[in-house]
Amino acid sequence: MSIARSLKDADGVDLAFYKDLHPPLSDFKSDILDGLSRPQKSISPKYLYDRAGSALFDEITRQPEYYPTRTELALLDTLGAQLTALAGPGAVVIEPGAGSSIKVRKLIDALDHPACYVGMDISGEHVKAACASLSADYPRLPVGAVCHDFTAPLEMAALDLPPGKRIIFFPGSTIGNFDLSDALGVLKNFHSWLRPGDALFIGADLRKDASILEAAYDDAARITAAFNYNLVRRINRELDGSLNLDRLTYKAHWNPYRSRVEMFLVATQDQCFTVAGKTFTLRESETIHTENSHKFTPGTFIDLAARAGFISKQVWVHEKTPYSLHWLECCEKT
Ligand SMILES: C[S@@+](CC[C@H](N)C(=O)[O-])C[C@H]1O[C@@H](n2cnc3c(N)ncnc32)[C@H](O)[C@@H]1O
Repeated sequence: MSIARSLKDADGVDLAFYKDLHPPLSDFKSDILDGLSRPQKSISPKYLYDRAGSALFDEITRQPEYYPTRTELALLDTLGAQLTALAGPGAVVIEPGAGSSIKVRKLIDALDHPACYVGMDISGEHVKAACASLSADYPRLPVGAVCHDFTAPLEMAALDLPPGKRIIFFPGSTIGNFDLSDALGVLKNFHSWLRPGDALFIGADLRKDASILEAAYDDAARITAAFNYNLVRRINRELDGSLNLDRLTYKAHWNPYRSRVEMFLVATQDQCFTVAGKTFTLRESETIHTENSHKFTPGTFIDLAARAGFISKQVWVHEKTPYSLHWLECCEKT
């Protein structure tokens, strides 16, 4: 990275760098066509996040039923001195799935002269704007932004990071959006970005009452529903689709056997539609699976992280609302 602060670019954005490694439209098209062709139609949740989707997600986090954001922020508020000690001086903070880069401010405030911050997200324009705003609020901190799919490999040398201890910050229980085998793959990918002694500081939501979980993922104001409908609009716009939103609704369901909230678009009537020239049918009550949110226990999460090469250094659990933050250290590579 040209980690020194750069001059403002033509848009007035003040970042040390912006790298656009956005996956091509052909990936979106082939993933959507593949997902809609399966017996249980499904779409990867990463496609929920275009510019409008990222703004809707921010609105979800402000809903009274959506406990994860306020719980994690409250937990972060209690950790300042412990984070200072764990990270040490001159840390390099990398945040995959950064979204609006709100929570990381609490980590940065706790750190002793952090060397730089790199926000990374699949929603490129959103992360660029969020990092520019962070940069304006922390004028002494070099800030870079990367549009990248964090499930894909990343050549860390290309980021030209300064030498300090690397801390990957991955809050929001975004890890819970992945099936367990894919979550293991994401954790292994993060492990490959780190060196022995570097850290992964990660949020993992915990099991709780079904009524709390289902309300959190299907808020009364129907913002989560709107977030899902935006995915349909995106498919219609970007892939020349003809899905009829008037014949779809949204539901969230707690599956205790798989320890996850499952989210679906549900057909209220039969419909025949096309996407990128291919024809599909949806029968009344048939579903398109759009997202999962797995819920862990501290132990199941530590075991998963251990399989990816991390050892648990510290776990914090919110005292009222079960939610965990983990400081995991990258072990020697085998
Ligand atoms: C659940 S939100 C969490 C946002 C924020 N970290 C927080 O804690 O509030 C997930 C974020 O990850 C991003 N995201 C989802 N899948 C991604 C992927 N495969 N690669 C990069 N970013 C992704 C989304 O755009 C979104 O900003």
